[in-house]
Amino acid sequence: MKASAGTRETWGSSLGFILAAAGSAVGLGNIWKFPYITGLNGGGAFVLVYLLCITIIGLPVMLCELTLGRHTRRNPVGAFKALSPPSSTLAQLIGAILVFAGFILLCLSTWGWAVTMLLLGAAIFRYSWIVVGAMGVVAGFTILSFYSVVAGWTIGYIWKAVAGQLGFTTVAAAASHFVGFITHPGWAIGCHLVFMLLCMVIVVRGVQAGIERWSKILMPVLFILLVVLIIRGLTLPGAMAGVRFFLSPDFSKINADCILQALGHAFFTLSLGMGAIITYGSYVDKKQNIFLATLSIAGLDTLIALMAGLAIFPAVFAQGFEPGAGPGLVFQVLPTVFNQIPLGALWATLFFLLLMVAALTSGISLLEVVTAYFVDERGWSRSRATIVFGAVIFFLGCFSAVSVTGWERIEWLHRIILAVFGTARGSFFDVMDNLSSNWLLPLGGLFISLFVGWVWGPAKAVAEIRHGSHNFADVHLISLLAGLKDDPSHNSDVHVLTLASIWGFFIRFLSPVAVLVAFLYTIGWLQF
Ligand code: PFF
Repeated sequence: MKASAGTRETWGSSLGFILAAAGSAVGLGNIWKFPYITGLNGGGAFVLVYLLCITIIGLPVMLCELTLGRHTRRNPVGAFKALSPPSSTLAQLIGAILVFAGFILLCLSTWGWAVTMLLLGAAIFRYSWIVVGAMGVVAGFTILSFYSVVAGWTIGYIWKAVAGQLGFTTVAAAASHFVGFITHPGWAIGCHLVFMLLCMVIVVRGVQAGIERWSKILMPVLFILLVVLIIRGLTLPGAMAGVRFFLSPDFSKINADCILQALGHAFFTLSLGMGAIITYGSYVDKKQNIFLATLSIAGLDTLIALMAGLAIFPAVFAQGFEPGAGPGLVFQVLPTVFNQIPLGALWATLFFLLLMVAALTSGISLLEVVTAYFVDERGWSRSRATIVFGAVIFFLGCFSAVSVTGWERIEWLHRIILAVFGTARGSFFDVMDNLSSNWLLPLGGLFISLFVGWVWGPAKAVAEIRHGSHNFADVHLISLLAGLKDDPSHNSDVHVLTLASIWGFFIRFLSPVAVLVAFLYTIGWLQF
């Protein structure tokens, strides 16, 4: 039976919803990725650029997604199906551009890309904006398949920390142990399986009894663990050098690359561009202030990313290690750092537990996107959808699990990808990461803001936002900031600078242009 809009489950409380959505946002991106890209991009200056990206792109796009979800009460595909007009010139234009690009690629003989473009263009002609929702569901599959592999490593490292196997005296020793661990198929696949099972056990129980209940338990646990680790790091002698590195900006470090990394990360960290927030928004009731919800979710996500930096850099500097150690920062440098501190095994256990908890609340939101699609659109039961697609994602993830460092174990797949697409940079794990982080998420974000800004229209979106938002959308910003709240002019109709009008401007112009530029740069079609 198809779940009708009237019987759709909703969050039990607004706190539950905020914690679940913040749980989706706060994940490996905050604790594993943010500190190392900050380290590689020179610390404080990168943090400032990142905060700017969150404010001008992240917040507006998140509000788009929540609005789409709550208005339609559907998964991403259903949401676009409900709101797509019968014919959309913009969609046809995008379809035509893709078909044109497909023909050009055909002449250049990269036929895999050409066929992809032609099929995508044809799909857009046929299904219009619904394709954007479908891209979200596909992104849910691909991201969870490799995300779960990294999340699995954290489970393995909790085990190793408890068993006292992380007592490294040099980073080189930690690195060779790490490589041995992630390339061991038994460990890699086993841990990936445990993580997928945890996600499935939670999602199968539904929105209130599963996702909300566990987010309410796990998010406070995450916060407490982080505070304990920050106190431990900051009280080490020499910790202030780490704080200075992390928070004092050096603007000479800012270049195009750094800005684009910050923008890409803003999407990933806020779970934007693929419909996770549309799906969570679809369980929100009309009483919820979604303006405030957007601010709280993005605020919590940013706070936790900054706290993760404060938990990591002071400890790294206090023990005299390198901050810009890349992706290995967390799995190689940190265990070595903890080993030099009294009760090191305890701190290592707490840290990897923190990472696992963060990954779990994000993993369930990724699985929920796929589940909600099959429940809403295909009429499947929740348990069938969760189990079947949890298993499918697990199998897809096995390819990433066995090929993090290279293709040796799946050379046949490598050959197929090379024959079809001409390139296969890095490993299968990298291909999946690249496909979702550099293609599906930015394109999804671009299309979502174009759709809300130009097709559905800010007027209808703002009417939805007004439910439960008091007069938030219509607050006259300038006179409010100027202290003229009680002046008669404050209530006049001629004000143009309201939160709603600024948001409309951002999603129509600023976000699409910024994302398009970033996207073209990332795929190498634009150079600075
Ligand atoms: N926001 C998560 C993180 O920062 O780790 C990753 C993520 C979760 C991306 C859910 C997308 C998503 F739908």
